[in-house]
Amino acid sequence: MTTDNTAVPKEKETEKTDLVCESLELAAAAAGDISAAIYADYFARCPGSEALMSHIDHIVRGKMLEEVFRLLMIQDYAGEEGYLNFEMRNHRLAYSVEAHMYANLLDAILATVRTAAADAWTPAFEAAWEKRLADLTAEISARVS
Ligand code: HEM
Repeated sequence: MTTDNTAVPKEKETEKTDLVCESLELAAAAAGDISAAIYADYFARCPGSEALMSHIDHIVRGKMLEEVFRLLMIQDYAGEEGYLNFEMRNHRLAYSVEAHMYANLLDAILATVRTAAADAWTPAFEAAWEKRLADLTAEISARVS
């Protein structure tokens, strides 16, 4: 049986097209695993974070980034309150993570994705990231003093 794509309602197509997700896929296709590049950029702009993460191997670093990517691909954080409350509190109490470290991490991710996407990067991607980072930063700031 063949699938008739013309039958997909317009709003369904729009829901599927998230520019942040699309740019992450694009960066991965162009540069492969960008985790190491993200951490290199992050630690260069945030030496305090490098010290905090010095005992963490690449597997745990990778798992942490997977969660940050997951949060970056969400358009509405309404279902994430419990998770965000837990992680932000745990990060503050157990690892002494400070507010500016989150901002630096998110800036490092954006810079690395932008670089990996290279010529395929567009103003629409930039605008989508600006909005998503503002939304996620607002959620984090509300939980980090
Ligand atoms: C939205 C942002 C963040 C999320 C969602 C997040 C999530 C996580 C998760 C899920 C883990 C556990 C990984 C595992 O063991 O499987 C983890 C570990 C860790 N994270 Fe984050 N993280 C975030 C930001 C940060 C920042 C900004 C720092 C600053 C340096 C940081 C420092 C750490 C450290 C030190 C650990 C390892 C703790 C240990 O096991 O000793 N995280 N993070």
